[in-house]
Amino acid sequence: MNKNLMPEDLAKLDQLETHLQERSTHFLGYPCTADFDYSTLHKFLKHPMNNVGDSFYLGGTYHINTHSFEREVVDFFAQLLKAPENNYWGYITNGSTEGNLYALYLARRLHPSGIVYFSEDAHYSIEKNIEILGLPSQKIRSQKNGEIDYEDLENKLNSCPGLPAIVVANIGTTVKEAKDDIKKIHAILNKLKVNERYIHCDAAFCGSYAQFLSPKPHFDFSEGADSIIISGHKFIGSPIPCGVVIVLKHNKEKVSNYINVIDSLDGSITGSRNSFTPLILWHAIKTIGRDGLRQRLYDCLDLASYTMGKLKNTGVKTWRNPNALTIVIPNVSKKLQHKWQLATHDGVSHVIMRPGITKKMIDLFVLDLKKENNLNFSNREAQTN
Ligand SMILES: Cc1ncc(COP(=O)(O)O)c(C=O)c1O
Repeated sequence: MNKNLMPEDLAKLDQLETHLQERSTHFLGYPCTADFDYSTLHKFLKHPMNNVGDSFYLGGTYHINTHSFEREVVDFFAQLLKAPENNYWGYITNGSTEGNLYALYLARRLHPSGIVYFSEDAHYSIEKNIEILGLPSQKIRSQKNGEIDYEDLENKLNSCPGLPAIVVANIGTTVKEAKDDIKKIHAILNKLKVNERYIHCDAAFCGSYAQFLSPKPHFDFSEGADSIIISGHKFIGSPIPCGVVIVLKHNKEKVSNYINVIDSLDGSITGSRNSFTPLILWHAIKTIGRDGLRQRLYDCLDLASYTMGKLKNTGVKTWRNPNALTIVIPNVSKKLQHKWQLATHDGVSHVIMRPGITKKMIDLFVLDLKKENNLNFSNREAQTN
């Protein structure tokens, strides 16, 4: 017989809620959106839901799942990313780290002797996943703005003649939100006659809005991507980390196995899979939708211009890539990093304009920066400048 929570247990939960509420009002360094309300979905926490198996496979003996919702979410993102009709497949992952792992696993199964090429600005999950899979790889230099150095890519490709190329393109690097151009990458591969190739786009943050940018970055299936991952808890917003990985169906079909015990196909990295995050993303696509994503992008771009202006007025040497929602500033003190939850790397910090940030938050942050005058920001330059 289960016991009820004791008053001290309830008090501990209340304390956690107060802490989370306060920390959410000082949250500028990560791309995780917080302006959501999925309370309609509370009732589904009562069920032992599990999306084990392939949601596109109409069989399976575990029925307490949200496969039909997962399919709708995959369909939505496949269309957004211009995947070929009737030739895409995907699933909802625990985030972009898992999506990157799945894409590299798929690429390795398709091209067992392939070399993985990734830039030094790629997210750390790429190098970790390469190690997990035991793949040979080449790290490519980045340009100052964080974009892959195409000349170095060409040289490194040249040093591995005759071997298939598995290229990871960043569609928004973690620190500077630089976007690699897969059109240029294909042109280099064509020039070097590397016909066996696989291009994975890590679009963790930017994937859900990059379609609406002008000019549109070259990154989607219509431009030759073989797979794309987007995090659900970043630009879209989710209380539980999640992501959507989309691949070409004809590739996936070469590698997935039928598993007798679940009467389904095993295509994903994990066996048991989250059933709740497909509901969250389904709720998001129904309530935000394509137009809402576009509007959120425009609002964030406006806020980015506002923030750049404010920072410049205080003498902070700030910088951002064209159309990026990430604003690079010189390294701030530990105290401010902590107060505003600012990710800091290689001497630079950044603030990220994700949906839900208000001008008031920016004003308070800029005030704090001003107060930190003893750090003498006006004399310092963002390293990337
Ligand atoms: C470019 C990029 N790829 C992958 C990841 C990992 O994503 P997740 O936290 O969803 O596993 C991140 C996280 O910040 C990222 O910025």
